[in-house]
Amino acid sequence: MTPPKRYLVTSALPYANGLKHVGHLAGAYIPADIYVRYLRACKRDVVFVCGSDEHGTAIPIQAMKEGTTPQAIIDKYHEAMKEDFHDLDISFDIYHRTSSPLHHETAQEFFTYLHDRGELETKETEQFYDTAAKTFLADRYIKGVCPNCKSDRAFGDQCETCGTTLSPDELIDPVSTLSGETPIKKKTTHWYLPLGKHESFLRQWIMEEHKDDWRPTVVGQCKSWIEGGLQSRAVTRDLDWGIKVPLKEADGKVLYVWFDAPIGYISATKQWALDNGKDWKPYWYEKDTQLVHFIGKDNIVFHCIIFPVMLNLHGNILPANVPANEFLNLEGDKMSTSRNWKLDMRDYITDFVKKENGGGATVDMLRYYLTQIAPETKDAEFTWKGFQDAVNSELVSIFGNFVNRTFVLMHKLCKGKVPPLHNAILDDEDKQLISSIEGTALRMGQLMEGYKFREAMFELIDLSRKGNQYMQKKEPWIVARRVETEPEAQQLIDNCLHLCLQLTANLAVMCQPFLPNTARKMLGMMKVVDKMLDWENAGKLKLLSVGYSLREPQLLFRKIEDEEIKAQIDKLKNNMTAPVPDTPAPQPEKPAAAAKPLIQFDDFAKLEMKAATVLSCEKVEKADKLLKLEVDLGTEKRIIVSGIAQHYEPSSLVGKQVIVVTNLAPRKMKGIESQGMILTAEDKDGKLQLLQPALPVSPGSGVS
Ligand code: MF3
Ligand code: ZN
Repeated sequence: MTPPKRYLVTSALPYANGLKHVGHLAGAYIPADIYVRYLRACKRDVVFVCGSDEHGTAIPIQAMKEGTTPQAIIDKYHEAMKEDFHDLDISFDIYHRTSSPLHHETAQEFFTYLHDRGELETKETEQFYDTAAKTFLADRYIKGVCPNCKSDRAFGDQCETCGTTLSPDELIDPVSTLSGETPIKKKTTHWYLPLGKHESFLRQWIMEEHKDDWRPTVVGQCKSWIEGGLQSRAVTRDLDWGIKVPLKEADGKVLYVWFDAPIGYISATKQWALDNGKDWKPYWYEKDTQLVHFIGKDNIVFHCIIFPVMLNLHGNILPANVPANEFLNLEGDKMSTSRNWKLDMRDYITDFVKKENGGGATVDMLRYYLTQIAPETKDAEFTWKGFQDAVNSELVSIFGNFVNRTFVLMHKLCKGKVPPLHNAILDDEDKQLISSIEGTALRMGQLMEGYKFREAMFELIDLSRKGNQYMQKKEPWIVARRVETEPEAQQLIDNCLHLCLQLTANLAVMCQPFLPNTARKMLGMMKVVDKMLDWENAGKLKLLSVGYSLREPQLLFRKIEDEEIKAQIDKLKNNMTAPVPDTPAPQPEKPAAAAKPLIQFDDFAKLEMKAATVLSCEKVEKADKLLKLEVDLGTEKRIIVSGIAQHYEPSSLVGKQVIVVTNLAPRKMKGIESQGMILTAEDKDGKLQLLQPALPVSPGSGVS
């Protein structure tokens, strides 16, 4: 089969709302990188694109949490994620961002194209509106009970507990996460992509054309979507963060993040082409391009149903495959950002990669383990013990050991040079080894083309295991004792080490997509150029020429010690924050506070309240309930003493916004004059929660 003319490989654009964890890495980035490195080694034309997803409600929500602006959030996390991917050798050709003007234009043009051709419908609907916060509520801002699993951790887009995709209307007892109020319904007009019109296209394309070459989990999910009835999907939103809908009548509306984000793959390709003097169009318009999306399973519907419908209407090519991965659990539990039960890429980089000289070996160790446990067909589990085992008993004891032994013995018994191969005395074991090398190369190639990276890597380790067994049988160090007396002995040694060296060169070629740093180190030991790593060399037996002198071996991997594992597990447990129970534990009812007498509006209007940003915060000495805060009210700074010390860590408040009563007569507490009062709400269990504006406002903004 002739390969496609060119490839465009994408990894899901991560939200720029926080650092990404190793589950993301295993799902969408490492497999894509392995595939791309393999394709490049095959000399195929391939472009690997990714970038930050910088729109959607996730961004303002994070800004609110960090008490800053959405722009500051995307700038911070875009850079951080880019750096982390770089540190782990994910070899994107471009890491773009969806806040770029080029992307805004591209997404708007796309929308206009569909709109002008009448492919979008408008509908006036009633949407949830928060009268307290005076805003329509994005799906994420509505919380309620899941109709599927009855958990109360369900949002208007998805249930956090069972993962079901939801629409806000399906939630039982919806409340606004902004105000905690029950939202009302208010009329608004939006643009919709009528998926139902494209049902037969989708059925034909997924359930006929791709039923055998796509992963069963992917086809299965699509099938149930299609069979569940394809609803029209709104592609615009009432939100003030995002790409403006390019229509006069759509003032104040933005494109839905899941409309613009996948178009980010196109704008990234455009930017890459601009930067490299290439033409981007063939990658998105020519049928001989193979488009492959690497994603996690929660993104399947967007990449297999919605985006393909958009691409099809827009005249683009469709993805050839969407190898979605399942989820990665951590030490027996679901990874979770809210409970801080996760291992961020950054944590590993700090504790391993940056700690050692030439941290490349530790990068490869993580890449190895994450590929070994890759959740290709079912959810998988990251454990530190599993990581230690994979490194110590496979990378160190099998792969590293084989390469090291080969080099040491070659220096000892063959004068540091590649010995000749004496064909006349090749025995069955030699021949078997040769055919294993050839067979492995063939099988690995097929597995890589079929996106089965875990199995492909297993082949690689298995081959080095065979190398060790071969060496163990041949025992060249014992044969060496007979060299003086037996003329054939040196020839036996030569054959063994010749083959082991050719095998080592093959291992370098074959490990390169998975373990790029290791492959490079091996090239150095063999004093050969990069070109040797071309995949066409896999399975070849003349990669190193006879008589060529080679360097001393270098240690490829180091052992992971028990203490390191223990330290990591302890750290994980210590960092875990209290679990958020699915259903709150029943609380003893506190008698309701006595109702206060009615007041007139004028009474209320006497209060002056303003939003303020906390500049600094510290405990008040000898007072276990009090914190002293300095707050910025825009035009002035004030000191406030507040009785919240048992509910908030001082450092956690810095940068947060609070609501301050500013015209309360000053009062001294523990010798400090408090120049205002911070508003809190008291929960049933007595826990105090700060009142905060739903989205950051400028300090000094009036509250009414
Ligand atoms: N940001 C999304 C997520 O993390 C993925 C977006 S993929 C894209 O789930 F196709 F939309 F770009
Ligand atoms: Zn649920």
